[in-house]
Amino acid sequence: MNNINFVSVDNIDDFAVISADFFSDFLQKNDNPLVILPTGFTPLPFYKEIVKRYKAGEKYLNKFKYLALDEYVGLCDGDYRSFSSWLGREILDPLSIDIKDRIIFDSDAADIDKECKRIDDIVSSSVINLAIIGIGENGHVGFNEPKSSFSSRTRKVFLHEKTIKANAEYWGGIDKVPKEAVTLGLANLKNAKNTLLLVYGKKKAKILKESFCAPVSEDVPSSYLQNQPNLTVIGDEDALAEIMI
Ligand code: F6R
Repeated sequence: MNNINFVSVDNIDDFAVISADFFSDFLQKNDNPLVILPTGFTPLPFYKEIVKRYKAGEKYLNKFKYLALDEYVGLCDGDYRSFSSWLGREILDPLSIDIKDRIIFDSDAADIDKECKRIDDIVSSSVINLAIIGIGENGHVGFNEPKSSFSSRTRKVFLHEKTIKANAEYWGGIDKVPKEAVTLGLANLKNAKNTLLLVYGKKKAKILKESFCAPVSEDVPSSYLQNQPNLTVIGDEDALAEIMI
């Protein structure tokens, strides 16, 4: 296992501040980096803190290019439920990130495989300077669900039942959750020069243990992180409880 920098925080305010400090420090040391940002509940306090600092005058906080991690398939451009719209609302629009600096999936592309190839080509010819990610309780990262190959690249996938359930609230019911999505692959994520994993709450404790304390396995996609260079994990004591004994 590579050296991993585990950072334990006491409460949600510290989680936001310490994650934002990490990002702020990264942007000051890296010139216009390419950054992956996740959707989900976990990064929300971090995004709020970044936006607050930007509005208070830390203008360098928008000096990055955004690369989408994943997206649902079949949503029209601008659909408020798409991940790109969600990230727009939560962080990219408030930071005034230019549209040309957002590498996002066309959810409604006529040929979704071709769209994945377009993104994969961009990713292959770029350096991902920082991948900020979260993990699902089944170890998914992006939409790389259990049994995704560690050599998988950008592609269309079918959502697992657990993921559909986890997203039901956001969509207003299980039947409304799209069944297909696109995602960067684990091989793409493994190429990131730096990775920041954000985890919060007791419900992430079990999967963190499986990710870091069991052999690396495609049954647990997030276990690729064991061999990831320059990995920082920021989490609260509840989430980190089983790995920081
Ligand atoms: C979303 C994504 C997912 C989430 C994961 C955790 O873009 O990539 O892997 O990071 O499902 O979600 P939360 O933070 O809601 O627990």
